[in-house]
Amino acid sequence: MKLNEKPTALIMIFGATGDLAKRKLFPSLYRLYKKGKLSERFAVIGIARRPLSNDEFQANVKNSVESAIKDSGELEDFVSHFYYHSHDVTDASSYLALKSMAEELDTHYSLEGNRIFYLAMAPEFFGTIAEHLKADGLTDVDGFKRLVIEKPFGHDLESAKQLNKQIRKAFSENEIYRIDHYLGKEMVQNIEVIRFANAIFEPLWNNRYISNIQVTSSEVLGVEERGRYYEKSGALRDMVQNHMLQMVALLAMEPPIRLTTDEIRSEKVKVLRAMRPLEGERVKEYFVRGQYGKGSMSGKQVPAYREEQMVDEQSNTETYVAGKLMIDNFRWAGVPIYIRTGKRMAAKSTKIVIQFKDIPMNLYYQTEQTLNPNLLVIHIQPEEGITLYLNAQKSGQNMEATPVKLNFANKGIDGMNTPEAYERLLYDCMRGDATNFTHWDEVALSWSFVDKISDVWENTKEEGFPNYESGTMGPKEADQLLEKDGFFWWPVTDLDVEEC
Ligand code: BG6
Repeated sequence: MKLNEKPTALIMIFGATGDLAKRKLFPSLYRLYKKGKLSERFAVIGIARRPLSNDEFQANVKNSVESAIKDSGELEDFVSHFYYHSHDVTDASSYLALKSMAEELDTHYSLEGNRIFYLAMAPEFFGTIAEHLKADGLTDVDGFKRLVIEKPFGHDLESAKQLNKQIRKAFSENEIYRIDHYLGKEMVQNIEVIRFANAIFEPLWNNRYISNIQVTSSEVLGVEERGRYYEKSGALRDMVQNHMLQMVALLAMEPPIRLTTDEIRSEKVKVLRAMRPLEGERVKEYFVRGQYGKGSMSGKQVPAYREEQMVDEQSNTETYVAGKLMIDNFRWAGVPIYIRTGKRMAAKSTKIVIQFKDIPMNLYYQTEQTLNPNLLVIHIQPEEGITLYLNAQKSGQNMEATPVKLNFANKGIDGMNTPEAYERLLYDCMRGDATNFTHWDEVALSWSFVDKISDVWENTKEEGFPNYESGTMGPKEADQLLEKDGFFWWPVTDLDVEEC
C-alpha cells in the first residue's frame, strides 16, 4: 500500500473477552483511530465463547479504552465499529455464521475483502481455528488475509513445527504475523538505527573493539495468576526463546543490504544459525537457572515461587535465566553476549550494555588507577534512551580522567503520542509490514537452541532451588558466570557518573 494511505480491514479478534484484548488491543486500536491512522473503513468483530450482545461488547471496549487512556474523550464513533460473535472454536456452523457477519460488514464498510484474524487466546486452539478459517471459507477473500498469532508459538521445536504445519494449510508464511511484543518497543526498533545510521558505532561493532555485551530484562512482578502456564514454560521458554534472542539477533546481525523485511530477517536468521549450540555438560558451563524464594519487595513480604497459586511445592521450574551466548562468526568470535532475565528481581528494567575494550595504553589515571571502559547503554524500558559513558579530564587536574556520561532520553512529551508496542505492531500488520514479526526460520532456530538447554534442565533437578531471594538481582552463580571471564554485570540502575 502507498505511504500515507490509511489501511482498511476487518479485524477479527479471537479471544475478545480476554485480558490481552482488553489491556492492549482495544486501547491500541483506539490510539490509531484517534491519531487518524485508521480510516473510517474498518470494523472489528470480537469473538469469544460467552454470549454478549453488540451493545454489551461495545460497552466493554469503551471501558477498556477509558481505563487505559486518560482523556479518551468521545468514544461513541470508535466503538460503533465493533461487533460481537459468540463462538465455538470447534463447530463449523459457528464459523459459517461468522462468515456471513464478516461479509455483511465487508459490504457495509467497503473493506475490499481485507481480513486480519487475530488469535489472542489459548494456544491450544491456534491450529484448529486456522484450519476452520480455511475449510469454512473465511479466508476466501478478494483482499488480503493475515493471521496474527500470539506467543507461545509451541512449547518446543516439535510442537512449533506441528502448529506451523497446521496454520500453513490456511496461510502462507508471508501472511503470518507472529507477535513478539519486544519487537514493537521503541528502543528495540532503535537498535538497528543506532547501529546502522551512525558512523561512530558500526566500525567499532565487532570483536576488535567490543569486549562483551549484556542484555538484561528484569521484572519485579512474580508469576501472578499464570502459575499453570508458567510451570510448563519457565523463564527460558517464556522470555529467552523469543524476546531475549530477538534482541541478541538485532544487536549482532550484519547490516542488511536493504531495509526490507526479507533482508532484515535473513540477517537475523544468520545470527541465530551462528549461535554456538549448547548440549549436555556445556549447558552448565554457559547457563544458570534460578528460582525465587520469598523476600521483601518495597517493604512488603512476598511468597516464594513454590508457594504461588497453581505451582508445585517442589517445582523445578526456573524463574530466572542467565546465559552466555557465543556467536561463532567472523564479527563476533570471542565476544560473549550475556543475557539475564527473571521475575521478582530488584528492578523492572530492560537494558543493553555494550562494553568496549580497554584502550591499548592508558596514559591517564583515575583514583583506582584504571580507566573505566567505554559503555554504550541502550535503555529499553522503563526509561527509553541511550547513554554513552566516556572518560574526560577532571577540571583543573592534569592527567586525571573521570567518567562522564552523554545521555539521550527519549521521552514522549505527551503520552498519547508515544505509541505502544501493540499499537505499532497492529498498524504494521494492517499495512502489511512484517519486519517486526518473527519469521518461522527464527522461531525454529531459537527453539532448537533452547530445547537443548531445557532437555538438560528438565532431566536434572536443581537441588538448590529456591536460589535467589525475591527483590535481588538473581543467584550468585549468575555473577560467577561473568567473573570467570573477568567481567561483572553492570548495574541496571544508572551508574553514579557526572553528566556532561
Ligand atoms: C511476556 C511474558 O512475553 O513478557 C511475561 O510471557 C513477561 O512473563 C512479559 O512478564 C514481559 O514483558 P514486558 O514488556 O513487561 O517486559
